[in-house]
Amino acid sequence: MLQWKLFAVDLARRAGVLLKEKFNQKHEIHYKGEINLVTEADKMSEDLIIAAISQKFPDHGILSEESPAIEGSGNMRWIIDPLDGTTNYAHGFPVFCVSIALESDGDVVLGVIYDPMREELFSAIRGKGAYLNDRKITVSSEKNISRSLLATGFPYDIRDSKENNLDYFNLMAMNVQAIRRAGAAALDLAYLAAGRFDGFWELKLKPWDTAAGCLMVEESGGAVSDLFGKKWDIYSPHVLASNGLIHKKMIKVLSFKI
Ligand code: IPD
Ligand code: CA
Ligand code: CA
Repeated sequence: MLQWKLFAVDLARRAGVLLKEKFNQKHEIHYKGEINLVTEADKMSEDLIIAAISQKFPDHGILSEESPAIEGSGNMRWIIDPLDGTTNYAHGFPVFCVSIALESDGDVVLGVIYDPMREELFSAIRGKGAYLNDRKITVSSEKNISRSLLATGFPYDIRDSKENNLDYFNLMAMNVQAIRRAGAAALDLAYLAAGRFDGFWELKLKPWDTAAGCLMVEESGGAVSDLFGKKWDIYSPHVLASNGLIHKKMIKVLSFKI
């Protein structure tokens, strides 16, 4: 597993350096939906990552946001967000990351998230804890939801769907110290693992947004479920992650809507 970790760390750093180099340049923007965009940098980062994996592990599967899925012939699959925080990136707001996870027989066993602007490399191996650069990290010890700093985000269909998180946001905002919407879900989860946030929830995320970050939260002592406390997996329609201590309180607040 350590060899895979070193490979993934190197890859996330290389992709991150590429994103940072292009950050202040003018971007080619294409729209996948009314407010859902993709830049040339997403594609370049993805090309670099997929080429390296395909060359080194030709039998591994790859699920990556901007390309068709690649079926592997074995039991290993990489799950990649080549640029999480594309809207921030396109606007020159320096909060974005590369997220790489590795699945073995359907279980996420490795996660790496790299923020090239702060040179922060978050990593976790299942059963071996979570790290920020070389330092072991743990979730916060905040027990009081009223003193908690939370993170969330809103789906790209916010204008068309009633399931757009605005009602949950209103409920939560009245019960916590503050909520941040920084615009990169993978980084939100890594920050939760590092104790910078006490909780996180979001609807309609995809496996590449959550695979690496949720492993990090679990490995740093936190809890992950769906919004109502049921078992979460990377295909769940919503996710709730916390330091574990405010988890039930978050569920109680979110359940008030029904
Ligand atoms: C998005 C970001 C954002 C979250 C969106 C995601 P992208 O990913 O993680 O924080 O609110 O739901 O889709 O499109 O920048 O990779
Ligand atoms: Ca994403
Ligand atoms: Ca992305």
